[in-house]
Amino acid sequence: DLKRKSPDAMFRSALRKLPEHRTATELEMIYDEILHINALKELSNEIKKQLTKVIQFEFHQQVGTTLFHQGDEGRSWYVILSGVVDVLIHGKGVVCSLHEGDDFGNLAIVNDAPRAATIVTAQPNCQFLRVEKFDFVKILNEVEAKTDRLKEHGKDVLILEKNSLKSRSGSMADTLTPSNYKYSIARGTVDKILEHILRYIQPWVLTGMEDSMEDFIITYKLFTDSKHLCEYLLKQYRAGDSLKKGVVYFVVRWSHIHTYIFHEDPDIQSFLKELRKQVIQDVLENEIYEELQEDLECVYKPHGKPGLLNRRSSNNGTSGASQVVLTVGTSVQRYPMSKQNGAEPIHDSDKVLLKIYDWNNTYTTVKLPISATCGEIIAAACEKLSNSPSDFKLVELHENHDTNEIPKRQTSVATAVSLNSRLYLTTTGDHPYLVNKQSASKTIEASHMETVSSLEIAYHLCKHNWNLMNNIHILEFLFKTCGGHKFKWTTSNLNVMARRFNQLAYWPPTEICLCANINKRVQLLRKFIKWDTYLKMYHDMFGFMAVMIGIGNQAVSRLHDTWDKLPSKYRKMVQGFEGILDPSRNHRNYRLFVASTESTRIPYFPLIMKDLTFMQEGNDTFKDDLVNFEKMRMTSKLIRQVVDGCRNPLEVDNLLETTKTAGTTKKYAITCPVITNQVVLNEMSNTVEPKRT
Ligand code: CMP
Repeated sequence: DLKRKSPDAMFRSALRKLPEHRTATELEMIYDEILHINALKELSNEIKKQLTKVIQFEFHQQVGTTLFHQGDEGRSWYVILSGVVDVLIHGKGVVCSLHEGDDFGNLAIVNDAPRAATIVTAQPNCQFLRVEKFDFVKILNEVEAKTDRLKEHGKDVLILEKNSLKSRSGSMADTLTPSNYKYSIARGTVDKILEHILRYIQPWVLTGMEDSMEDFIITYKLFTDSKHLCEYLLKQYRAGDSLKKGVVYFVVRWSHIHTYIFHEDPDIQSFLKELRKQVIQDVLENEIYEELQEDLECVYKPHGKPGLLNRRSSNNGTSGASQVVLTVGTSVQRYPMSKQNGAEPIHDSDKVLLKIYDWNNTYTTVKLPISATCGEIIAAACEKLSNSPSDFKLVELHENHDTNEIPKRQTSVATAVSLNSRLYLTTTGDHPYLVNKQSASKTIEASHMETVSSLEIAYHLCKHNWNLMNNIHILEFLFKTCGGHKFKWTTSNLNVMARRFNQLAYWPPTEICLCANINKRVQLLRKFIKWDTYLKMYHDMFGFMAVMIGIGNQAVSRLHDTWDKLPSKYRKMVQGFEGILDPSRNHRNYRLFVASTESTRIPYFPLIMKDLTFMQEGNDTFKDDLVNFEKMRMTSKLIRQVVDGCRNPLEVDNLLETTKTAGTTKKYAITCPVITNQVVLNEMSNTVEPKRT
């Protein structure tokens, strides 16, 4: 009977049989046929063999037959044997047509999510191969890395990649774990990536899309802006039921990650108002939407402490922009109490009091928000002095008499200037004659901190570092390493952290060179090494690395008499630490060390900034007009590493808070005055221990 039919008819009749009834000849025939199908081209022969035992035939005579609807549960995967189907999406209509050899219906199966589109036949007599979800997962999960390109109107809009994640044990339970076979977003248009994310996130449930959503929220300013995002979300919300929940959930997560920046952005605020209106309207029409209203209530509300630590916290009380004063231009930074102890982050709207010097070292003060540009600072100072701003420049005079002109468009000037620097208003050519008369070295005295318990001082140092780190807004990393001037937000808290690093790195040479007595100097050096050991114990790699760099400062390392008198135990400790400091092979030792410890509370920031910058410069943000989402994922992963350090509160030893010396120690750990002029430090070092002859 078989012999009388055409090969095509035989193929179809073999496919129509229940898989378990297929004979060996039939299986072979099916195999020969599917060898030529485009969609299966990349699969190994072994997989094709397995498919012959499970694929089924589906036929639709009528044009306009719906195979499944957007939002349906995904039950099977299809390959078109002949005919054409249209892909329809709510609010967009037909986005593309698929032809003979194309496949569809894999997304819902792979992601364990509702159908992303409706599929309708566009020609009569369409023929399909169909593989049920169970078989698809069982067989195709084993497939090597696969790329899936979704098109709309002839152009790629989303490129998904499925990584080969062969189940190690090969057991069924393993194979069926959803996270084992999900796609990740490689590239896409902004809108399509967002559509994909919104479809697959499930409010308050971890689906694996959660991470992509956070990656998007953390990095979107690199490839789009809030205004576009708001418009798109509102459009999706209005388009229909299926994405409403996703939109609300996205907004809630967004607000918790961006905290005060979310609230200070006028575009986002008007969007939020509009969204609230829409939700309330929906609730009036149908009470099933009450859930949405409740969810939207979870939007982050500002309460003045929105650092990294609080990115998941909820609202308690409110506060507007604080009128905090930061003073710059004195030898020691003077912050008001709340900011001085690092308890609060600096906001863009915070007012800063800047001391601006002129050529004969008299100064005028201007008070401007931290977000003011250098140009605005010049204008404000010139207005006070009745000068014409066009003639003037703002110059930073460092403690070592180096100068640099501050670019006119730079913001966060107050936090960006170095320790012990002064700001001068000068006309062209003036600045070589400037002299920083009030050099820090003349005002600093030895602290006598060596009398305080090592643990106590390490604790307060670490705690301040910890507070400063928690003040950094998650977006500051992005602003700092991706061309800050493009964003209207500042990086003040990150600047303060960078300055803190220098402060800690100049602290050992300052203290040690201020100490004239050799025995005391040895004792002090021992103390520094001990403090550093404790910082390491607290997993404060930031403080640890800074102090270690300080101990290695040439003004300290040349003090041979001091080092000779240091017990060998301490010398060995330093040698061990120096290994971690070694920058060779891209800081391999540090990276290995960090990987071997279970928790790094405060990471070595300079390295993170370096990695981030490298990542920004080494990878394109767009590839063929599509957002390079791989880059966004890597960027966000790095940033999240820092955030992860903040997840658990610092374990505090409360006893250390209540010692007799706690007040002074804490104050010192925060202010810790230092000399940053290396020439001066070298001179002081020479004075305490003249060169050996
Ligand atoms: P799935 O979500 O399971 O069901 C609809 C299918 O349409 C989807 O998988 C894709 O395989 C296919 N498809 C083709 N083009 C698109 C597109 N531009 N957007 C979404 N799905 C598409």
